[in-house]
Amino acid sequence: MYSEKGEYSIHVCFSPLSWPLFRKENSIVIVTDIFRASTAICAAFENGVKAIIPVETIEESRYWKEKGMVSAGERDGKTLDCADFGNSPFNFMEPGLKGKTIAMNTTNGTKAIRLAAESGNEVVIGAFTNLEAVCSHAAMSRKDIIILCAGWKDRFSMEDSLFAGAATEKIIKDSEGLYHTVCDSAIASTDLWRLASRDPLEYIEKAAHRHRLKRLGLDDILKYCFSVDSTAVVPVYRGDRLLSAWS
Ligand code: MLT
Repeated sequence: MYSEKGEYSIHVCFSPLSWPLFRKENSIVIVTDIFRASTAICAAFENGVKAIIPVETIEESRYWKEKGMVSAGERDGKTLDCADFGNSPFNFMEPGLKGKTIAMNTTNGTKAIRLAAESGNEVVIGAFTNLEAVCSHAAMSRKDIIILCAGWKDRFSMEDSLFAGAATEKIIKDSEGLYHTVCDSAIASTDLWRLASRDPLEYIEKAAHRHRLKRLGLDDILKYCFSVDSTAVVPVYRGDRLLSAWS
């Protein structure tokens, strides 16, 4: 996997805390939060949601709610009292959400999106559900790629790192020499993905957030979160919101 050949590079940032070490001009950033924010965002656009405004604070969620916007949000997995629903991807599949804008507030994912957007780079959302679509969108940018894992409260997360590995491997393979990596975290996440890819659902039994979701009775989404390429949407950040790249 280590290679210095190839015009463009891939880096993987395992935690928002390390972001200042990775941010770089003229790059494209793929933000991922597999359990569950980035998977939920892709599900929303697949369902025809118009836009998602990622928000960080409870005050911001209240503000949008008072303005009459649909509000989604959780802290530590629990739905916010000012939200219409939490962060399960299944919540975002409701037919009534078609054409709507949703203000979304999650423990780690929406913060990571806003952090990446501050860099002025193009920011896109990646999940296993849109793996092929987001990787080819990023590679077509002909820019260096940084994969930012939302993690859990600034710590390493197994499921986000598995996605980073799957995406790194795919982009390098599919770009036929255009992309390379010399980044240890990209190489380590690829090795982790190779270990897990035979049966990701079995492997993910080791992950802390998998058990957190189980304790909360919110782990019905696991299989869906690993349904590779079940959608071709690519959510992109424009202004203060996420839109489908096709819109
Ligand atoms: C997050 O943003 O931390 C996650 O998506 C939390 C979750 O929905 O379980």
